[in-house]
Amino acid sequence: MSAIQLAPGVHWIGAIDRDIRVFDVIMKAEQGTTYNSYLVQGSKGCALIETVKARFYDSYLSTIETLVDPAQIDYIIMNHTEPDHSGSLDKILREAKSAQIVASKNGVPFIKGILNRDVDVQAVGDGDSIDLGGVTLEFIQAPFLHWPDTMFTFVREHGILFPCDFLGSHYADDRMFDDELDDFTHARKYYFDHIIRPFKEFAVKAMDKIEDLPIQMIAPSHGPILRTDINKYIEECRNWCAAPPKGEKPRVLVFYASSYGNTRRMAESVAEGCRGAGADVTLFDLEVTEAGSILDEVENADALAVGSLTINGDAVKPVWDFLSSLATLKLRGKAGAAFGCFGWSGEAVKFIEDRMKAIKLKVPVEGVKAKLMVTEQDLAECRDLGKILTESVTS
Ligand code: FEO
Repeated sequence: MSAIQLAPGVHWIGAIDRDIRVFDVIMKAEQGTTYNSYLVQGSKGCALIETVKARFYDSYLSTIETLVDPAQIDYIIMNHTEPDHSGSLDKILREAKSAQIVASKNGVPFIKGILNRDVDVQAVGDGDSIDLGGVTLEFIQAPFLHWPDTMFTFVREHGILFPCDFLGSHYADDRMFDDELDDFTHARKYYFDHIIRPFKEFAVKAMDKIEDLPIQMIAPSHGPILRTDINKYIEECRNWCAAPPKGEKPRVLVFYASSYGNTRRMAESVAEGCRGAGADVTLFDLEVTEAGSILDEVENADALAVGSLTINGDAVKPVWDFLSSLATLKLRGKAGAAFGCFGWSGEAVKFIEDRMKAIKLKVPVEGVKAKLMVTEQDLAECRDLGKILTESVTS
């Protein structure tokens, strides 16, 4: 891939990974992704901003060589050190023998850990800058977006912000600028949900920090470079970070997976109990609900009830997929309860409760288990469970 000019002396020199479909084991990358690295050249020196995933090193080096002799690289700025950005650091250091690695204070031990050796890393903080001659790299600490080491680099002369993962997306296309592409909001939102959502408060702090910068272009480390209506992207991210307005009633979501309708009947009774206690309730059949699609709903809820039948001594996969998807949410303060029908063992309910406790939900009521066909007594217990669950978030 050829270098792409962003501004005089500033080039994209990254790699496009069209084939990847799963990123970091847990994220889909249906449109592939890019590992964006940049070269910033001034009259006195030049700097790499991050590197690329290790397996793209050869083409990466070739792209760099079209612009500069790698031995002339003075700085390697590591805004973040996860291996998709640091994977080629070790190899490029063999070419750029005198390059100074630059990272946040939090990034220093990560660099040493990733290289597995002691190296000299220049730690920078807010207000620090490096003058390359006509272009200046300014550093802005942005911890937890999404690792403790994250920082942004800003080139004031061209108004270009390099925020690494923040405001990025998994979206591969040869056309690297937003105005050359069809709408890719879905990719930005998916990326936000999986990478930035757990750190919303840090995202807001970072956006407040950069509010007054004269940003003309945002050059993240994944996906398209943003140069059209920059404020739109910042506002979009602020909206995603904002807590939705709370309704007057407590909000309870009831999720279930049911094969013969028994656990579904239990779910309906749980919902009835919740409503009777004053809650606003929605039921979700996990067999047809895509786990990642209801994260906003969960985040806005006060309590969750989750029901699963037991198969082979376990809760069923859609239930585990749902419970697993909650890992990116802040759940402390919310309540949870479990229920489910079973044939002869009924482990699902306990497993759901254990998972709820592990992700910081309070579990104020023991789960309800119903053997084979649910009885009126079982359904009455489910109504009680819904009532206690609701009361636990209202009293
Ligand atoms: Fe794209 Fe957190 O690495």
